[in-house]
Amino acid sequence: MDCLQEWPEPVVRVQSLSDSGAAVIPDRYIKPPSERPYVVDDVGGKLDITLADNLINIPVVDLNCEETVHAVSEACRSWGFFQAVNHKVSPELMRRAREDWREFFHLPMEEKQLYANSPKTYEGYGSRLGIQKGAILDWGDYYFLHLVPLCLKNHGKWPASPPTLRETVDEYSHELLRLCHRVIKVLSMGLGLDEECLLRAFGGDDSGACMRVNFYPKCPQPSLTLGLSSHSDPGGITVLLPDDRVKGLQVRYQDAWSTVEPLPDAFIINIGDQVQILSNATYKSVEHRVMVNSHMERLSIAFFYNPKSDLPLAPVSELVTLEKPALYQAMTFDQYRLYIRQRGPKGKSQVESLKNI
Ligand code: OGA
Ligand code: NI
Repeated sequence: MDCLQEWPEPVVRVQSLSDSGAAVIPDRYIKPPSERPYVVDDVGGKLDITLADNLINIPVVDLNCEETVHAVSEACRSWGFFQAVNHKVSPELMRRAREDWREFFHLPMEEKQLYANSPKTYEGYGSRLGIQKGAILDWGDYYFLHLVPLCLKNHGKWPASPPTLRETVDEYSHELLRLCHRVIKVLSMGLGLDEECLLRAFGGDDSGACMRVNFYPKCPQPSLTLGLSSHSDPGGITVLLPDDRVKGLQVRYQDAWSTVEPLPDAFIINIGDQVQILSNATYKSVEHRVMVNSHMERLSIAFFYNPKSDLPLAPVSELVTLEKPALYQAMTFDQYRLYIRQRGPKGKSQVESLKNI
């Protein structure tokens, strides 16, 4: 995997660009008009600039009630996204996780640079996804780290400052892993399968988890760029802790963009490509993207629950019938995620390209 050794160009921290106070963003961050979050209309010779937003909200699901299986299943068949309340993770822990990471991103740049990442494992402090030279970049920095399997977890690669961070992340990941086990069981039942079925397909206790903390600095020209380009998540399921002060996530629904309105103390949960594949496309891994903002920075914590990385995954046999043959060929998650790691976020092009027909 020599091609993944190094970044193709010197890394520029978006936070440094933002802090420089420049009024315009470099060309490298300017998206083609069709990808911009604001739509410009010519209304009788006058330009009308509006946010692309269909004003529909993702479903809200109570994770501990009689209707949970049905509600999660419906949400994941249509939207691929839902907002989870009553999830039993303590709001105080959620607050600490946000606070510790905010503190990290506000450390002096020299200190953060100690953790600079490379495309080989992506672990550490990063500012781009993909290694294509000359690519248009996103207006965001991030910190990526491995949580399970334990052989990949390495506290030495996690920030040493603030001093509470490592313990907070350990506690947070323990709680989120529990939440993901519950959600993956609910998803199995929602497909009419036994509750362990998807978990088994993930490799049971050997399934994986990693985390990406996204930091989107203030942007002087938010209508020209994105914090994170449209993509579907390559893994199993994603549990996102959104910023509690500013919104920014948009989900594609019926060919339009829907801006998520986070509820207090809720998580945003979505289906990744691996669950779309296992469910033979009954559950949808849906495109989403992030807008940035001129007066507020934004921090989000994405927890990715993934299958064991060297297990070939294909639609589960119970969901493959004569009427609905297997839509995807088997592939391991290790092979699968090379694509996004090399090419960066590219809508749903990857999972679509795997289709059998
Ligand atoms: C991601 C993601 C959304 C956000 O990290 O994959 O989609 O709101 N993040 O930061
Ligand atoms: Ni995502």
